[in-house]
Amino acid sequence: MQIQVTNTPDELAILAADRIEELVRHKPDCVLGFATGSTPLATYQELIRRYRAGRIDFSKVRTFNLDEYWGLPPSHPQSYHSFMQEHVFQHLNIPADQVHLPQGHGIDEETACRDYEQEIRRAGGIDLQVLGIGTNGHIGFNEPAKELRLDTHLVTLTQATVLANSRFFNSPSDVPRRAITMGVRTILSSRRLLLLATGPQKAAILQQLFQRGISTELPASLLHLHPDATILADQDAAALLA
Ligand code: GLP
Repeated sequence: MQIQVTNTPDELAILAADRIEELVRHKPDCVLGFATGSTPLATYQELIRRYRAGRIDFSKVRTFNLDEYWGLPPSHPQSYHSFMQEHVFQHLNIPADQVHLPQGHGIDEETACRDYEQEIRRAGGIDLQVLGIGTNGHIGFNEPAKELRLDTHLVTLTQATVLANSRFFNSPSDVPRRAITMGVRTILSSRRLLLLATGPQKAAILQQLFQRGISTELPASLLHLHPDATILADQDAAALLA
């Protein structure tokens, strides 16, 4: 696992967008894995800027998102479907049928999970997966636990995650308690991983990521096992690293 530290979050967004642009130029029909959360927003804005400037063509790109709340219809303002539509997809030329998120509504658990894994396989796997990291070390919605699930599955969110994500809702009680997420094998099967971390609130977990061994209690530590995983961190997030 490599780490690259940038001076500012803006610089990080440029580096992350460089990697994505390079991939799309090299392989116009590549499969991109996207993440939600605040951290990748600047990277998405940079991609949108480059698309508008005519630098990147996304028309053949296919995308898969990491996760979605369970029980929220796609049209719900806090669903990850809405989030991605608002911040990313409505601004890029990716045809709607090439965009995939897990289905968190109007479908039974088993079908939703199985269909998502099949769709990823049918697309030939993910070329580059963008990841954020929860302050408790989660990736996607794979929460710290004694055992982690391999494939796309339904998860009960920890109280820490519910609280952290409540900033997007009117109150913590509005945050769904469950989510559907890619499993750790789904994530680690991506050919390249790019984990983005910015701000002082991520410093402690990044320190643990490099000090503790690989542990299911710190799901992001599984990235140590991946042959092509890069962490991009800004100075604040990297502040506690030696
Ligand atoms: C959510 C998402 C994760 C994301 C995390 C961190 O829980 N499911 O995929 O990485 O939040 O979010 P942020 O980037 O806002 O800190």
